[in-house]
Amino acid sequence: MHMVVDGNTKVLGIIGNPVRHTKSPAIHNYISGELNKNMIYVPFEVTGDVKAAVLGAYELGIHGMNVTVPYKTDVIESLCDIDDMAKRIGAVNTLVRTDKGYKGYNTDMLGLERAVFSEGIELNGKVTVLLGAGGAARAVAFMCARNNASKLYILNRTISKAEEIACDIKKFVNEEGLNTQVTALAMDEYEKIDAEELICFQCTKVGLSEDDGAVIEDKNFYNKITHGVDLIYREGTKFAVLTREAGGKAYTGLKMLMYQGIIAYELWNDLKVPDEVVAGVEKVLNEG
Ligand code: ATR
Repeated sequence: MHMVVDGNTKVLGIIGNPVRHTKSPAIHNYISGELNKNMIYVPFEVTGDVKAAVLGAYELGIHGMNVTVPYKTDVIESLCDIDDMAKRIGAVNTLVRTDKGYKGYNTDMLGLERAVFSEGIELNGKVTVLLGAGGAARAVAFMCARNNASKLYILNRTISKAEEIACDIKKFVNEEGLNTQVTALAMDEYEKIDAEELICFQCTKVGLSEDDGAVIEDKNFYNKITHGVDLIYREGTKFAVLTREAGGKAYTGLKMLMYQGIIAYELWNDLKVPDEVVAGVEKVLNEG
């Protein structure tokens, strides 16, 4: 759809560094076109002071922002308010304009949650396994706990990072009266997972490159997986291949990317993106 920029065009954008590879403009400009909104979404590569960038964006009247690497945590001090889950996760990727400043949300987690539900994956009462303990894994861990997974195993090469997330999740579970039992393990301790029918989330960087392997390659591990979600966007990671070869269903991170964008758009504009537009966004991403 042809976009006309005029005196009333509202500006949305993404701050990060690097940011030139981002698919977010394709998502948001497509939705604005379909919904007939006079808005444009642009990348802002911020190399210096992110606080000055956020405060300046507010003064310029920028309607809403996404935030990506490396600013998802640093941006928090420049907000007037923060959503409770984003605060617990310690990372914000969406800024929503209010009268006092921007309020921060984490639609990475909300997007993954909507993607998981849209695939018909039920977490309630299920045993969940996370491979990795970085920022992405942290958000996934909170999603599993708040959806009442019975168990959550967090495996990481550096076990201390898995233990840190486990500690924060235990606190969350206690405070919210939830039931998830959390265990931190080193990556090579996967044989200690004492359960079948696992829902496994691959949250490490391994798989980004075409010739990467998987963090666990033992077929006995994959035999226990019913659903394997790789947060890496591309099809055909080794993790996905091993999951499918063992009879499980495998999913990529593309829907998560799509829904984090859709939920941000919904927050900025206080609306629900209709299903047919969601389907169009999926097509745009699959073609790009
Ligand atoms: P993100 O925000 O995408 O989660 P991150 O916070 O940098 O990124 O986390 C990267 C994750 O990938 C970590 O769990 C990291 O393991 P360590 O904590 O041990 O570093 C994991 N990772 C990256 N490269 C890896 C590799 N070659 N083998 C195993 N794990 C790896």
